Amino acid sequence: MIMSRIEAPRDDVTGTLVDRLLTGLPSEAVLTDPDVTVSYANDMASFCEAGTPAVVVLPRTVEQVQHVMRTATALRVPVVPQGARTGLSGAANASDGCIVLSLVKMDRILEISPVDRIAVVEPGVVNATLSRAVNEHGLYYPPDPSSWEMCTIGGNIGTASGGLCCVKYGVTAEYVLGLDVVLADGRLMSTGRRTAKGVAGYDLTRLLVGSEGSLGIVVRAVLALKPQPPQQLVLAAEFGSARAACDAVCRIMEGGHVPSLLELMDRTTVKAVNALAHMGLPESTEALLLAAFDTHDPAADLAAVGALCEAAGATQVVPAEDAAESELLLQARRLSLTALEAVKGTTMIDDVCVPRSRLGDMLDGIERVAEKYSLTIGVCAHAGDGNTHPTVCFDATDPDESRRARESFDEIMALGLELGGTITGEHGVGVLKKEWLAREIGPVGVEMQRAVKAAFDPLGILNPGKVF
Ligand code: LAC
Ligand code: ZN
Repeated sequence: MIMSRIEAPRDDVTGTLVDRLLTGLPSEAVLTDPDVTVSYANDMASFCEAGTPAVVVLPRTVEQVQHVMRTATALRVPVVPQGARTGLSGAANASDGCIVLSLVKMDRILEISPVDRIAVVEPGVVNATLSRAVNEHGLYYPPDPSSWEMCTIGGNIGTASGGLCCVKYGVTAEYVLGLDVVLADGRLMSTGRRTAKGVAGYDLTRLLVGSEGSLGIVVRAVLALKPQPPQQLVLAAEFGSARAACDAVCRIMEGGHVPSLLELMDRTTVKAVNALAHMGLPESTEALLLAAFDTHDPAADLAAVGALCEAAGATQVVPAEDAAESELLLQARRLSLTALEAVKGTTMIDDVCVPRSRLGDMLDGIERVAEKYSLTIGVCAHAGDGNTHPTVCFDATDPDESRRARESFDEIMALGLELGGTITGEHGVGVLKKEWLAREIGPVGVEMQRAVKAAFDPLGILNPGKVF
């Protein structure tokens, strides 16, 4: 790798940049071989432009990150922060000539405090690693994106990730108490707190969560933890229509139940998961609803919710026998997107969130869009949150189908806004939805967001071309 750095032809600009970076970073932390750096160009979103990075840096310390940002400021070079690149909006895609700043080597869990119920971590810690580590202390870090075995906490903070547990436990933002952030010019700022409460000044912590690397580089996070709940038990309910499943969701929430998970998979998704992983899910169902409780008597809670599903027209209600069977159902749900990708080779995954009372209208509308464009659109959803992932399955080598895919994707966002929803519940704006942000928040909202961006990043070097 070092050899190829030396051997690779470098123009003067890149040469100066690399030389300056090497004054504060070890050579193994600076990658310039184009065959290697190209693998850092994209996250997991389709249809998002990505440039060619000049260099990829993999710092291990806060000081090294500061050095990278000072260098970037001095030379006016764009910086694209990255975690595991499991993002779904192109927010981590490289821009031409940029420094890709990968935080994956800063992966230490610095502290777990059962008394304060916090963990202090570096950004490169993998979500599942943290979850398992805090479990050892009888604690629970809830946010659980489907990619939890790969995605990093830094990436989760960057995109304000959600997951399956959010219907009960909320999203990443609710667990980030404080941050250490390297600013565009290399200064280090601490925000927030490690206390249970704290209202000193503007809530910059919350502002940074979901800022998609456009305001600063998170180098340390103080995260709130919960006591570990009992193992959850899952119920699967089959419905003859998506509308009936949505009706069940409304009944469950209206009835005051607090499931630890309330997920929906439509027939296309169920079939795709079966095809990929031979899960044996019921293919005759139009919509499969998964509900779970992590209470002390989950069977009783599931019985009550099962009765509501039946009242809404469920054709079958099957509680899992034990934790192992519950886990299998969750695995099936987490596999949904990978499975849908296999249907036609490429997917565009949407992330529209509507008030849950409008979920039925949303699903009916998606079906109409699929018919209008003659496309397969599978839907999995964090139904309890009204957060849908309509996933357009298409053949990217077919230009006409690709055009229809993009148009249907946009139409689904328009539908979400009409229903009082948002264009993104948990995946972020990135490159994929930046034209849509203004439609959701309006020109004044955009103006204020740009003013915030300018305060943090006056030279515009932090993840340019994203969000706006
Ligand atoms: C999921 C990811 C795509 O829900 O958000 O599976
Ligand atoms: Zn999701």
